[in-house]
Amino acid sequence: MMIGIDKMGFATPKYQLKMADLAQARGVDPNKYSEGLLLDALSIAPITEDIITLAASAAQDILTEEDKAAIDMVIVATESSVDQSKAAAVYVHSLLDIQPFARSFEVKEACYSATAALNYAKLHVEKSPQSRVLVLASDIAKYGIGSAGESTQGAGSLAMLITSNPRLLAFQDDNVAQTRDIMDFWRPNYSETPFVNGMYSTKQYLDSLTTTWAEYQKRSGKELTDFAAFCFHLPFPKLALKGLNKLINKGISEEKKEQLLDNFAHSITYSKQVGNIYTGSLYLGLLSLLENAKTLKAGDQIGLFSYGSGAVSEIFSLKLMPDFDQQLQTQRQASLDQRQTLTVAQYETLFFEETKLDETGSREFAHYASNAFRLTGIKEHQRQYSKVSRNDN
Ligand code: HMG
Repeated sequence: MMIGIDKMGFATPKYQLKMADLAQARGVDPNKYSEGLLLDALSIAPITEDIITLAASAAQDILTEEDKAAIDMVIVATESSVDQSKAAAVYVHSLLDIQPFARSFEVKEACYSATAALNYAKLHVEKSPQSRVLVLASDIAKYGIGSAGESTQGAGSLAMLITSNPRLLAFQDDNVAQTRDIMDFWRPNYSETPFVNGMYSTKQYLDSLTTTWAEYQKRSGKELTDFAAFCFHLPFPKLALKGLNKLINKGISEEKKEQLLDNFAHSITYSKQVGNIYTGSLYLGLLSLLENAKTLKAGDQIGLFSYGSGAVSEIFSLKLMPDFDQQLQTQRQASLDQRQTLTVAQYETLFFEETKLDETGSREFAHYASNAFRLTGIKEHQRQYSKVSRNDN
């Protein structure tokens, strides 16, 4: 029995900040962002769009009524959680009207946790093949105005439906993970923004990649030439390109190198316009590859490198199923283009708006464009969500 990803959905806020505008405002050469980081724009979330609305919107995109009746587990992977106790997955389960006899919970390990969630989902479907598991990777990456990480912010959510006999991609049971206790990026409970050792984090990312890759090759016997494409966690696309170049060794043919670099370019198409979405970044890269590459075919293997600061990394592979192209969308670029472009001043107001509650712990939020769901306010410390109708934006 094969188990894997049957469908993928994606949601990102309706607002964007162009890197060229940010560069001008911060007195930075725009080429530093466009060439040095390979970033063109960042998605910006208003206060009414949180990890729950993004996750529910990403899933709403792909789920049928039959899926909602069959899903018996909802997992949200995030590092920008809105509650220390109640899981985002419980809200998402409710917003999507998934049948009640389901297990819903949240998982965390920086940008890595969606990979752990996929592994858990796979084990569950192995035990009960009729089950469907909804895995959501949802984050809003906020480093702060004028900080070194400001250029690598972003927001978005990936939804993946894990089933037996998947129509998109099958897991291949070749995962190799690595844990190392380091302080490259972390966010204590008392801080709204992360602490980052930026340069050190990039070194740790690359070193985790090469050492996990060496162990993966030893255990699986696979070489880079076995893959049609390699997807990477994308804190910013340039770092992943450095990673791919580290894996490409001298023995590899020019033709294979060209295929890998070409497919890499397709895998960063969306992230270049969205920024870092933490847990979902790797999977946005995968979606971007599938929806933009022209030469992928059934049976092709795709390698994946997952990295979460702290740090846990994992390399594994997926195989393309026969009718995978039937499961993909063609409208994605158009909806990215439709995002409203903010001035830097508007971005600073919108992205860093704080929740100021009244004495009852309540507040209604102003109206901002949202995806399928909106956080309308907080009432006596309880988050209030509503469905967005077509004419509501
Ligand atoms: P910085 O100080 O903004 O930039 O820090 P820089 O000076 O290192 O320059 C960046 C690149 O632009 C360099 O390229 C420059 O040469 C180039 P490189 O030498 O590295 O190849 N450059 C130019 N290129 C063309 N024209 C120019 C020009 N000027 C400079 N005029 C840094 C960058 C990534 C450190 C910062 O943005 C940061 O701290 N970001 C947050 C941390 C991060 O993203 N780390 C990545 C690894 S850790 C990770 O992936 C986990 C994470 O996703 C979190 C999680 O797991 O939860 C972050």
